[in-house]
Amino acid sequence: MTNLFSSSGIMQAKPGTSSSPPYLSVPEVAEAIAGLRPQDRDFLERVLAKDLAVYESRVRAIGFVGQQKILDAGCGFGQWTAALARHNEKVVGIDVDPVRLELAAKLWTDVPNAEFRQSRLEAMPLESESVDAAFCYSVIYFTDPAKTLRELYRVLKPQGRLYICTNGWGWFLYNFLERHNPSLDFNPRTYALQTTVRTLWYYLTGRFMKGRAIATPSWYMRRLLKRTGFSVLALQGEGTINFDNGLITPNYKPRYKGLENIYEFIAVKS
Ligand SMILES: C[S@@+](CC[C@H](N)C(=O)[O-])C[C@H]1O[C@@H](n2cnc3c(N)ncnc32)[C@H](O)[C@@H]1O
Repeated sequence: MTNLFSSSGIMQAKPGTSSSPPYLSVPEVAEAIAGLRPQDRDFLERVLAKDLAVYESRVRAIGFVGQQKILDAGCGFGQWTAALARHNEKVVGIDVDPVRLELAAKLWTDVPNAEFRQSRLEAMPLESESVDAAFCYSVIYFTDPAKTLRELYRVLKPQGRLYICTNGWGWFLYNFLERHNPSLDFNPRTYALQTTVRTLWYYLTGRFMKGRAIATPSWYMRRLLKRTGFSVLALQGEGTINFDNGLITPNYKPRYKGLENIYEFIAVKS
């Protein structure tokens, strides 16, 4: 077995298991992982510590199956893209980060119906009304949410569904108080403080600082969704929407110290 994450030794190769990516015996993948920034490497380790079957069960639970074309908006290292690709005809994973995309393409070679493209979510190289559903996990708070929702609305077909998982204020309080997942190049406390300032700036001026996070409480997202033309079908804690009596696997609590933490919603283009 190959250990690709020597810092902690958690991630072990599982050659031959059907739901693991076929990456672990490939030297150029190991090399690419070793070259990641510490924060990215730690994140990838957490992503791959979970079997792809877990991601797939969430995809089924939210009903993102049997579609012709799905968008994974902000796909990162592509684990959701791969899970979606196993249940739909075609998936396009879009992300702004070329390093993550390059690795995603190397990791998920067993899903030929997944395609990775580089772009910002606020202006995607996709035709209007060209995707049946759009999936966006833990990304919109890094983007200007009003612009991203308008863009998602544009590329979705009429009645197309949108899944988003994002963060309220509780998440940033949690980061500040509990110092969640620190890395050599990531300080959760600094991140929480900077996010607070940026969010207030965004709400006061309407101007978003590119590439930085903001808090996206559900009252605000509901307002944006309505303004954009979406109707909300479900809104609840992360990992809990379940249309098929499948697996409920929340990774986070819905509230932290009384504040909204991480939540997910499904909306429809009406
Ligand atoms: C926390 S990661 C989540 C990635 C993936 N959805 C997942 O669940 O593992 C956030 C991702 O958003 C991407 N991102 C940030 N701002 C973006 C933007 N404006 N447009 C597209 N992607 C963006 C980052 O490069 C990163 O891959």
